[in-house]
Amino acid sequence: MSKRTLNVALIGSKFMGRTHSNAYLKAPMHFDLPVDPVMHTITARDKADLESFAPRWGWRNHTTRWNDVVNNDEIGLVDIGTPNHVHRDMAVAALEAGKHVACEKPLANTLDNARVMLKAAKKAAKSKARNKTFVWYNYRRCPAVALAYQMARAGRLGKIYHVRCFYLQDWAGPDTPMLWRFQGNVAGSGALGDLCAHSIDTARFIMGDEIREINGAILKTFIKERVVLAGGAGGEISGKGAKTAKKKAKSTVDDAVLFTAEFKGGAVATFEATRLSTGDKNGNRIEIHGDKGAIRFDFERMCELQWYDATLPEAEQGWSTINVSGPNHPYAEAWWPAAHAIGYEHSFINQVADMCFTLGRKKPVVPLPDFEDAYQTQRVLEAVTQSAKHRCPIKLSQVK
Ligand SMILES: NC(=O)c1ccc[n+]([C@@H]2O[C@H](COP(=O)([O-])OP(=O)(O)OC[C@H]3O[C@@H](n4cnc5c(N)ncnc54)[C@H](O)[C@@H]3O)[C@@H](O)[C@H]2O)c1
Repeated sequence: MSKRTLNVALIGSKFMGRTHSNAYLKAPMHFDLPVDPVMHTITARDKADLESFAPRWGWRNHTTRWNDVVNNDEIGLVDIGTPNHVHRDMAVAALEAGKHVACEKPLANTLDNARVMLKAAKKAAKSKARNKTFVWYNYRRCPAVALAYQMARAGRLGKIYHVRCFYLQDWAGPDTPMLWRFQGNVAGSGALGDLCAHSIDTARFIMGDEIREINGAILKTFIKERVVLAGGAGGEISGKGAKTAKKKAKSTVDDAVLFTAEFKGGAVATFEATRLSTGDKNGNRIEIHGDKGAIRFDFERMCELQWYDATLPEAEQGWSTINVSGPNHPYAEAWWPAAHAIGYEHSFINQVADMCFTLGRKKPVVPLPDFEDAYQTQRVLEAVTQSAKHRCPIKLSQVK
């Protein structure tokens, strides 16, 4: 019997364009999927770039007109890998055209836009097409994070007291030009939506709990002006090699964010994210302490989960390092023999596999965030912004 296939259109061909393309290519090779993704059309703004990108990554068609792919009857899934301010229009148009939608994080640049997207997703879920939505909070699909989730669900952490999240990068110094990530009307926020959104999602996911209140947030912009681009945005996240003009423009986002929070279940948490933490490249770390055990995860050592079992006899207690690459670990069966490590790109491949499992009515390895789930993270981003602006605590119940 031939397998079901799903024609995919991806919008965005740069950083996330590459990670998503790679994921659609690899997922059917490593997983036995009920539905195989077909790389139908790649869309972005730069025609010349698309002409080389499409054949290189295995896309059958390319176009600069995203509206066309959204309304193409052959497309089943629209994947949005563009800057945050256009997520809303693309997602709503795709949902209204009866497509499943996978959208990059954060869900939108503003809570208002995220709410419009959520409304469209709810309507689409009830339609004949029963469209599904997914959001690329891909760190959930690092095997060590997925294992932490499974251990927390199995009660191994017990009652959670403390959560400590920090997401530290260092690429946004004064020489980094005025990229879209520094424009408030495009990105929505800086380190908050770019990095901390991942931490908020990871904490909510592992704990299975929601933030009740934000206390004392700081949003700090250290570098107030940046040189504007004189052409393309250059390479990597930092715009390496981009041509710049002499003129400067105002940065309208935070370079760093810090806040404390309380979860509904009573745990207290600290969050810190910055793109100016000299020496830290992608230090996405989370530490959770419960009365039965504790975990630590650091993305820069992504295959490891630090685990402390407080139920062991006292003399035997101590931190251990679990090499989360099998046997019996989440996603391990799809990859290499035990301790033959995987990397960043595998979190995206694992996500494509879980999206295809979901669309084929099978269970994902661990739960995927949909628009409803990502909307809860967006509410936290808004509460943090309000707390910093008004210099006061903000209850999440005040943020609809
Ligand atoms: N999940 C993660 O770990 C992760 C990592 C980086 C970025 N992101 C998110 O992915 C999204 C894209 O980020 P990026 O780093 O890939 O950006 P990028 O600047 O590298 O690429 C953006 C792409 O979007 C295209 N684009 C921009 N505006 C468009 C428009 N109006 N119509 C059609 N195409 C348009 C550009 O041509 C480009 O191909 C953002 O939402 C970002 O927050 C997520």
